Amino acid sequence: MNILFATAEVSPVAKTGGLGDVCGALPKALRALGHDIIVVMPYHRQAKEWFQRNGVELERVAHVPMVWDHWSADLTVLRTVLPGTDIPLICAANDALFDRDGIYAARAGGPDDSIERFAWFNRAVIRSCEIIGFSAEIIHAHDWHTALLPAYLDSGLRRSESFRFARAVYTIHNMNYQGVAAASKFDFFGLHSRYWAPDALEHFGDVNLMKGGILLADQVTTVSPNYAREVRTPEHGAGLDGVVRHIGDRFSGILNGIDTGEWNPATDEHLPANFEPGKMHGKTICKRMLAKELGLKYKAKTPLIGIVSRLVEQKGFQLVLPVLSDILRAGAQMIVLGHGDAYYEEKLEELAAVHGDALRVMIGFDNALAHRIYAGCDLLLMPSMYEPCGLNQMYALHYGTVPVVRMTGGLVDTVVPFDGTNRETATGFGFANAASGDLYTATWIAMLNFKDSRLWKTLQANGMALDFSWDRSARRYEEVYRRAHE
Ligand code: ADP
Ligand code: GLC
Repeated sequence: MNILFATAEVSPVAKTGGLGDVCGALPKALRALGHDIIVVMPYHRQAKEWFQRNGVELERVAHVPMVWDHWSADLTVLRTVLPGTDIPLICAANDALFDRDGIYAARAGGPDDSIERFAWFNRAVIRSCEIIGFSAEIIHAHDWHTALLPAYLDSGLRRSESFRFARAVYTIHNMNYQGVAAASKFDFFGLHSRYWAPDALEHFGDVNLMKGGILLADQVTTVSPNYAREVRTPEHGAGLDGVVRHIGDRFSGILNGIDTGEWNPATDEHLPANFEPGKMHGKTICKRMLAKELGLKYKAKTPLIGIVSRLVEQKGFQLVLPVLSDILRAGAQMIVLGHGDAYYEEKLEELAAVHGDALRVMIGFDNALAHRIYAGCDLLLMPSMYEPCGLNQMYALHYGTVPVVRMTGGLVDTVVPFDGTNRETATGFGFANAASGDLYTATWIAMLNFKDSRLWKTLQANGMALDFSWDRSARRYEEVYRRAHE
């Protein structure tokens, strides 16, 4: 099939989180199954810098004005390939909209214009596809940023040669970011007024792009089976649970995979030493070198706990902060790599100043360091309030680092908590309630069990033996694409 991927993030070119990882990896797995794919993303400053750093020259395919009722902005279509593949990667460029500090940054000193930027991007995806003459059978849109594509397809786009046979598949990576805006923004989309309705883009008087994506796509997916169940409930549906219930079996959950080309402890170039099941000495070197790199004293028998995360409420930092000192006092060292809310950044840095001997906090985004943390730590902490899938825990498991997680969303599908009796299958530690005390207890129990090196080796081996490769999930997406055409 001819598949068009439209996304705000693509790893390694520009990413803030797992959306980028998925959109950098799933196309490769689909290509390996014989499909023709193109990926279209905005030409973010981060992308521009990545290409420059890596000496990649983009082909300038076209420069066209894009005009509609309320908007006029030029589009430059740039073309390269998804790094390391023959998959065309199209960058839709408009510097006024996307040459910014952050992928989701507002115009410096200006109001939040993200709805307009991404509305432009949805149009740009369509124009780019027409310009390069790709005839899409599937438009695969991701998250709210590209949720207008199903609406455009529904509204007459099939008359365009490029979309004559197209069906829309929409993937929700995070139900809590919906692209909500005041009703007046509807005018920017250039859609017929019939889309201003509760069965399309209108939600209690506001524009809601994700709602439109869900209702107008032929098939809708999210990124783990358990999250697919959860978002059908008011607790997790963020106001759209009724909408996903309404579409019935057009909605399903497919577990993310990991890109084992980039994430493989046996070959990972970011590590000071490599390792694999049965040959774990390299992991000890990784721990030693990580401690050295960050100025912590190397202590073989002290559990080193890592966190790699966006610093936002979703990831449970409100649970971590009250007990972080207690965890350290109970005999752990800890490394936190993250960026996000200024409040969490400050609080973590304050704690780091107090616990200079046991805690390191690195504020920022550093992919190579992230690799070294997954490899060098004994435990990874991921106490998410909700988690559509979560890739961090999968990287940790793959690198022999035992996760301590809150049992929610995709964490339930990927981590088997140790309960004292299940050493044949257990891969981590878990707790259910969103309470600091329970997070502390689960971490403390994990630390106690760390002392039992035979058990620990079993937990590591169980995690490393799991197959998180994309192949199986790519086949599930194939089925969804087929269903979209039924
Ligand atoms: P989410 O997409 O909700 O942030 P995931 O677990 O799906 O969570 O994916 C997070 C991805 O982002 C992983 O690849 C992780 O390594 C990466 N990541 C998060 N924060 C950082 C950071 N500060 N530096 C480097 N990589 C990070
Ligand atoms: C989102 C979710 C995360 C998921 C990622 C990729 O950012 O928060 O759980 O793994 O998307 O699908």
